[in-house]
Amino acid sequence: MSTEDMKKRAAEAALEYIEDNAVLGVGTGSTVSYFIDALARIKHRLDGVVSSSEATTRQLKACKIPVLDLNAAGPLPLYVDGADEVNRQLQLIKGGGGALTREKIIAAASELFVCIADETKQVDVLGAFPLPVEVIPMARSHVGRELLKRGGQPVLRENVVTDNGNLIIDVYNLQILEPAKLEAELNNIAGIVTVGLFALRPADVLLLGTEQGVQEIKGKDC
Ligand code: 5RP
Repeated sequence: MSTEDMKKRAAEAALEYIEDNAVLGVGTGSTVSYFIDALARIKHRLDGVVSSSEATTRQLKACKIPVLDLNAAGPLPLYVDGADEVNRQLQLIKGGGGALTREKIIAAASELFVCIADETKQVDVLGAFPLPVEVIPMARSHVGRELLKRGGQPVLRENVVTDNGNLIIDVYNLQILEPAKLEAELNNIAGIVTVGLFALRPADVLLLGTEQGVQEIKGKDC
């Protein structure tokens, strides 16, 4: 079975979490794109969706799924999104698609965060995938130096401007043994808008697409 098929399986399984007349948050990426395709089949049951990126908004609109503003929608019962890496505590690295800031805002505003991923994303220790960090343009060099001091190898993502008008630095060579501590520390560097570590607010449920089927893994508070 291909990775794409495993992503599709996980995405389809997330439909089980959607209640009638729900408003939910939707993430960004190729796994989420399969989820939006599945969502289109049940759109008559939805009141609307809060989108985490311009790319997701385009796909939702093409499927004629109503897109709502988070401020108007209020707290959300459910957020569904993918990940670049997920550990056993359901802490994540996200931002491979550059949408980490809006993704983190919607995750924070949601009661339940369901992560959908194929089995290649599961790791014991986060950090083999370079950690994305969204940065205010004038702070690029300062943030790069601060990341070097912490043992990371910062690389500016070429020709990328985020939906918020900022830059992305991908940080290589981090072995993230204490994800929540590192997230809090990096959050304090002036000029960093968002760190792609989702450890202080991890996923609540992981739907992991595997060769054998979909594993449902619940976090400690679920
Ligand atoms: C985008 C993300 C994505 O969830 C992450 O990159 C996973 O993407 P994919 O489902 O394409 O592997 O964080 O900012």
